[in-house]
Amino acid sequence: MSVIKDMKVSIKRIPQSRISQVDFNNLPFGRVFADHMLVCDYKNGAWGAPEIMPYGKFEIFPCITALHYGQAIFEGMKAFKNQDGDAWLFRPEENFKRMNLSAWRMCMPEITHEIFIDGLKELVRLDSNWIPTQEGASLYVRPHMFGTDEYVGIKPSDNYRFVIFSCPVGAYYPEPVGLWATRKYVRANEGGTGEAKAAGNYAASLLGAREARDRGLNNVMWLDGHDHAYIEECGTMNMFFVINGTVVTPNLSGTILHGITRDSVLTLLEDHGIPVEVRRVSMAEIKEAFANGTLEEAFGAGTAATIAHVDRIGFEDEPHMILPKIEDRKISNMLLRELADIRTGRIEDKHNWMVKI
Ligand SMILES: Cc1ncc(COP(=O)(O)O)c(C=O)c1O
Repeated sequence: MSVIKDMKVSIKRIPQSRISQVDFNNLPFGRVFADHMLVCDYKNGAWGAPEIMPYGKFEIFPCITALHYGQAIFEGMKAFKNQDGDAWLFRPEENFKRMNLSAWRMCMPEITHEIFIDGLKELVRLDSNWIPTQEGASLYVRPHMFGTDEYVGIKPSDNYRFVIFSCPVGAYYPEPVGLWATRKYVRANEGGTGEAKAAGNYAASLLGAREARDRGLNNVMWLDGHDHAYIEECGTMNMFFVINGTVVTPNLSGTILHGITRDSVLTLLEDHGIPVEVRRVSMAEIKEAFANGTLEEAFGAGTAATIAHVDRIGFEDEPHMILPKIEDRKISNMLLRELADIRTGRIEDKHNWMVKI
């Protein structure tokens, strides 16, 4: 039993770690799981005591609300090791706040700071051997919550389960990505759940993503659901463009995720005095900038994706726009390097983003 503040966390350790079976030099994203997970149940209007146990299966009834009516939300964050081998999390308080915003939007109970942050630290501390130290690799941590009522009928669940597990990961996009913009599918609309990290948003995005892949691209670059003209985000990351030396990114319209990497990128750009415009960005503007040679860079920013260079953009059936060479991209390459350097303690963490475990 370990005590976090006044909260008791029971810890049942795995008898034999699985870590020796893992090839840390060849980590696929999201397929390898660290030894332990944290589980905490909400019943009778209150969260119970969190338990840390070996990562594994748990039993649920087939009727639970999450499976039928989609009351399920999640977060994604990363832990890193610095040069001295200490474990750190990148901006976990932001994930905590966003988790509770998602919970509010989906009529779910708020999770407490003790369970989320202190439980998270306890779990990552226990599995800190699983934090990879290879360049570009990290421990991806996945808190999530879902409705567990045994009830068929549409209403907010009375019971919930909160779980955190983690995966040592390499790059989500090992290569530059190609994105497809289309008016055919919509991810989110005003008044909808677009800015919540709700599981259903991702299910709704799969068909478009499949069509993007059929077209030789990796994913969809979503357009707004009203005019079908303005760029929103990608399925895993917020979008940035460099047009004639100015960084342009869509504003938080209520339909896109408040990306923590997006916010960090905006701060770093300000630190460097690079001009930024946060506003609506139309597909027509991107096409025009491409045509007149002023579209210098395009990239996505996200926890899993980090800074992902976009090398091709397709729009409907039009030929793909082939973007400038990755080596020539000053701004996104600087951001990629600087974020990695902050996370691994190679440069000063001026904004106090790193939280020691
Ligand atoms: C839809 C969507 N947009 C943007 C992001 C980037 O957000 P963050 O930087 O907080 O990971 C993510 C990933 O979490 C996402 O799933």
